[in-house]
Amino acid sequence: MLSNVIASQVRTHAPYGGVVPELASREHLQNIVPVVRAAMEEAGSTFADLDAIAVTEGPGLAGALLVGVMYAKGLAFALNKPLIAVNHLEGHIHAVLLEAKKQEQSLALPTLALVVSGGHTHLYVAEQTRGTWHYKNIGKTVDDAAGEAFDKVAKLLGLGYPGGPWIDWLAQHGDPRAVPFGPITVKQKPYRAQQKQSPRLLFSFSGLKTAVLRYVQTHEMGPRIAVRRLALADMHDAKPSDALPLCDTETLNLIASFQRAVVDDLVRKTFAAAETFHTASIVVSGGVAANRELRRHFLAEGRSRALPVIFPSLELSTDNAAMIAAAAWPKFVAGDVATEILTAEPSLSLG
Ligand code: KG4
Ligand code: ZN
Repeated sequence: MLSNVIASQVRTHAPYGGVVPELASREHLQNIVPVVRAAMEEAGSTFADLDAIAVTEGPGLAGALLVGVMYAKGLAFALNKPLIAVNHLEGHIHAVLLEAKKQEQSLALPTLALVVSGGHTHLYVAEQTRGTWHYKNIGKTVDDAAGEAFDKVAKLLGLGYPGGPWIDWLAQHGDPRAVPFGPITVKQKPYRAQQKQSPRLLFSFSGLKTAVLRYVQTHEMGPRIAVRRLALADMHDAKPSDALPLCDTETLNLIASFQRAVVDDLVRKTFAAAETFHTASIVVSGGVAANRELRRHFLAEGRSRALPVIFPSLELSTDNAAMIAAAAWPKFVAGDVATEILTAEPSLSLG
């Protein structure tokens, strides 16, 4: 990995507590040329040194994806280099492979991949035959993604955006057994159309979010939340540690219990899937894979079952370009190049 430049849009979207699609497209447009220039400079490379150009085809926000696809097509055409289209989710899985390669570890296959981010909570069985990767989607969320639940609960409690790192940090100061949320089960019936996945391997986080809301209402936490939200809004660049003096024990316990419920559910279903599909390892990737309690629980469960669990470094957990290049490499070797009709695919699936 010669360079991995990231242009974060967190500051742009923070005042709205979520991604505003129009602002995201505009920022992409403003950033794409400077980011590519910075990446080339940091790598000490010129365009002539490149073997190919890789770009995210989907899934994601149409406007943001289009900026990338059109720029990559233009660059590939002008440089007369092959263009490789990559699925964003495949990118997250390859972030782990890139990490394993950096550490000269090999990954036992087939592997069970959990991609857990702001937009996805998906389980895949991934394997490689003659250099080509194949994925089978065996589980997913029927409503909110895990990262979305972190973000919504953080917003509800008057914390900053994105919510995951705030909850991660504050949860260390609370008792995760204080609020017994109980295991999350998804009933088969309403999701019959999605028979590809067993209901045992389906996720659902919107009920948990509602349970947190109900707890806040019955414990009359509203006024305390309003005070916290205003105090944090008044600070310049507030950090999770700034919220600690603004949280009472009841709030910290609620945060820790919510996080424990999400982590327990992810661990339980991911290991159940690994057992059902006889995978030789587990990889966990996506923004939520940065969560410390999640890492601890996955690693402990992996140790007790003698099943290797691999995470990307924190830098490669959240969205980045290196993972797209990593996923593109086996496609380049196999000659799987995109044609001029390539366009953005906002709801592209994998497997
Ligand atoms: O993969 P990512 O950067 O972007 C998407 O493709 O969605 O993931 C962003 C998500 C957000 O929901 C954010 O709150 C969550 O990852 N996240 C975390 C942590 N760091 C980021 N969630 C829990 N704990 C964290 N430490
Ligand atoms: Zn992502």
